[in-house]
Amino acid sequence: MRRPALRGAAAVARAAWVVLLCGGLMAARLPTGARADAEAGKAKAQVCAACHGPMGNSTNPDIPILAGQNARYLYLELKDFKQGRRSHPPMSPMASDLSSEDMQDIADYFAAQKLVPVRFNADGASIEAGSRKAAEVLCTMCHQGGFSGQNEIPRVAGQQYQYIVKQLQDFRSHTRTNDAGNMASVTRNLTDEDIHHLAAYINNLQ
Ligand code: HEC
Ligand code: HEC
Repeated sequence: MRRPALRGAAAVARAAWVVLLCGGLMAARLPTGARADAEAGKAKAQVCAACHGPMGNSTNPDIPILAGQNARYLYLELKDFKQGRRSHPPMSPMASDLSSEDMQDIADYFAAQKLVPVRFNADGASIEAGSRKAAEVLCTMCHQGGFSGQNEIPRVAGQQYQYIVKQLQDFRSHTRTNDAGNMASVTRNLTDEDIHHLAAYINNLQ
């Protein structure tokens, strides 16, 4: 009768030790991990909701969704707005008072939110034409398959249709120039029709 009880106690002790060990490992990783500052970012991001929507899910076609965007990209855009490399009248002043730490916290917060796409009601032929154009121009060489992005390359899948159209036009006309030339060369030969098809296709991706 005693041995099973002892084994049970040993198992409980072992389980407790595993929990402690994992807790210790997680705590040790937190200072450098993305999640450490998402809580602080949540408070700092309150003011952004007026335009970017609840938890970064904008329902305004001209304002980008930030939820689920790559943290590294978000951080770089905020830095670019603050330092004037990217400029937009209502947005630029929002970044001007943010410290580097604020930007990091806010980027971590929005990256951790779930994207809720607003689907543009495009016809199938337009989506199909956009898909063909994206393959022809090799967009996914940088943006990854499905336009999910990586690090400093943005996720575009599920982004607001109108916003995508404007960014592609802005890159083409050199109105937005914070892309190290990558998007300027990609958009150079796109017509407005191509841009609308591409936006229809990418907005409708998961
Ligand atoms: C008054 C409205 C407004 C407020 C408030 C606002 N933004 Fe913006 N934001 C915009 C608009 C409009 C754009 C798109 C600019 C463009 O078309 O290039 C934008 C773009 C951005 C982008 C670029 C996203 C991308 O996909 O490239 C980031 C990042 C961003 N905002 C972060 C923030 C953060 C963080 C806050 C809060 C501190 C904030 N914004 C508050 C209007 C706003
Ligand atoms: C050579 C790499 C490369 C290729 C190819 C490329 N992109 Fe990009 N794209 C980028 C980078 C880098 C950025 C972010 C620039 C910045 O830092 O602001 C970007 C930004 C964008 C944005 C703005 C996103 C936002 O949230 O503001 C859109 C839209 C976009 N790309 C669509 C496309 C489409 C459509 C294609 C194909 C026609 C394409 N890209 C091909 C590198 C690339």
